Amino acid sequence: MTTANQTFGQPATSGHDDEKLLRYRAGQRAVHALLATSFLLLLFTGLMILWQPLTLWARDGTSGVIHRIGAVLFILVPILYLIVDRRGAKELLVESFTYDKDDIEWFKHAGRYFIGRAVGMPPQGRLNAGQKLHHAGVVIASATIVFSGILMWFAKGSLGASGLAFAATIHDLSMLALTVLLAGHLYFTFVYKALSSMTTGYVSKEEAVIEHPKWVEELEHQATGD
Ligand code: HEM
Repeated sequence: MTTANQTFGQPATSGHDDEKLLRYRAGQRAVHALLATSFLLLLFTGLMILWQPLTLWARDGTSGVIHRIGAVLFILVPILYLIVDRRGAKELLVESFTYDKDDIEWFKHAGRYFIGRAVGMPPQGRLNAGQKLHHAGVVIASATIVFSGILMWFAKGSLGASGLAFAATIHDLSMLALTVLLAGHLYFTFVYKALSSMTTGYVSKEEAVIEHPKWVEELEHQATGD
């Protein structure tokens, strides 16, 4: 079991071909599991409330209740992240909104990365430029979905018809953006076989050197204390 104090990149094995690097600590993985579960709950119950063919299932109000439970869990995600792994939460936030020259170059070659060819891409740090953009999009769309949702939940009466319609539009567009981002997120997770980073916490060093060479270099400097 990994802890919040465990160092990123700490090898799990020291063999030749199968050396592993720690990418996500246990707390980070638990928070991500809560994020994924609450988001999927919100998506499916939201569709039941909105989408005609599924509204029959929403008649007794159960989906509305589950939607609110999902919303509370979703709101708890950043709070729990700060509690269980403040360093990880801070790194996620700062890195997602910080882009350097290599990231700009990476975007220029993103088509190649899209079809699964990471070899020869501009060097990347812990997060590649696409991951940074995804995570930044998640942060922004999550903020707008939570804000508009809270307004519709607690201030419905005082919004007026046009205010309510505006909040609902922001809410639906934010969900659409998060769903498109999720489709891309899942595509890259499976194309680059990245699931192990969120299940075991570890990734193959060989692959990390190709996809995140600046991160591996940083870990090696930290390990040798330079
Ligand atoms: C439902 C299935 C999902 C799978 C299989 C999945 C998979 C993954 C994987 C493998 C990573 C690590 C990538 C890496 O850095 O190597 C990751 C990170 C991440 N995912 Fe997901 N994900 C899922 C759902 C979601 C959802 C619904 C969201 C947002 C609404 C999301 C947001 C994120 C974020 C923000 C990170 C970075 C986590 C951190 O730095 O702590 N994921 N995901």
